[in-house]
Amino acid sequence: MRKNIVAGNWKMNLDHAAGLQLFAEIVNLVKVDVNGNQEVVVCPPFIHLSSLAELVKSNSTVSIGAQNCHHADSGAYTGEISAAMIKSTGAEYVIIGHSERRAFFAEDDLLLAQKLDIVLKNGLTPIFCIGETLEQRNAGTHFDVIENQLKEAAFHLEENQFKNLVLAYEPVWAIGTGLTATPEQAQEVHAFIRSKVGSQYSIQLANDLTILYGGSCNPKNAAELFGQEDIDGGLIGGASLKARDFVDIIKVFNS
Ligand code: PGA
Repeated sequence: MRKNIVAGNWKMNLDHAAGLQLFAEIVNLVKVDVNGNQEVVVCPPFIHLSSLAELVKSNSTVSIGAQNCHHADSGAYTGEISAAMIKSTGAEYVIIGHSERRAFFAEDDLLLAQKLDIVLKNGLTPIFCIGETLEQRNAGTHFDVIENQLKEAAFHLEENQFKNLVLAYEPVWAIGTGLTATPEQAQEVHAFIRSKVGSQYSIQLANDLTILYGGSCNPKNAAELFGQEDIDGGLIGGASLKARDFVDIIKVFNS
């Protein structure tokens, strides 16, 4: 089902006490200020997952997600975290293929295809990130880049698996830079993604797919971005580290 989702990606920020504090502030503000049918997801560093997931057990207004996972079930992979471990904390989402993972940890689409498989196998929802670099956009190849990312990492999935994905269009040039795609630029790519999914699977699945925008989203630009026909919410980095800003972005979907 197509949903409105606002997900915060804390990246590698906040020690345990600071993470608990920010999360408590977000939950309190969400209780008071959020009255729509939007879903709120917080994706903290791994060390916070269990505590935050425990806190939301009795409160379904906020869900928890991880920022990454390993592609194998288990084994001798020192320092890694498996999808099953994430599932066991009570978390429900995993970000896969964030551009920082692609750029700094050499994650390519073939590896990401395996990560999507293991996340789905464990009953978690992947938030699968795709998007072009500035050079690719300037060269006019952004549609090809995005189509290839979909084909190589995700189009091997069966329709009944793919329907469990959330996609996030994150132009790399807009992440953490203060540069935002214009609502028209973002809408154009979201519509393109939906049409590719429609031709690969079905129009029904494409219409039901949730596609988030990410890249310097903030309380000032969120309403215009989320107002676009094919934009169903956001993946928020920097602004998700400030409870007030994050909840002001979530509030865009209030009824
Ligand atoms: P940003 O990050 O909002 O800080 O640009 C977005 C993301 O990386 O998901």
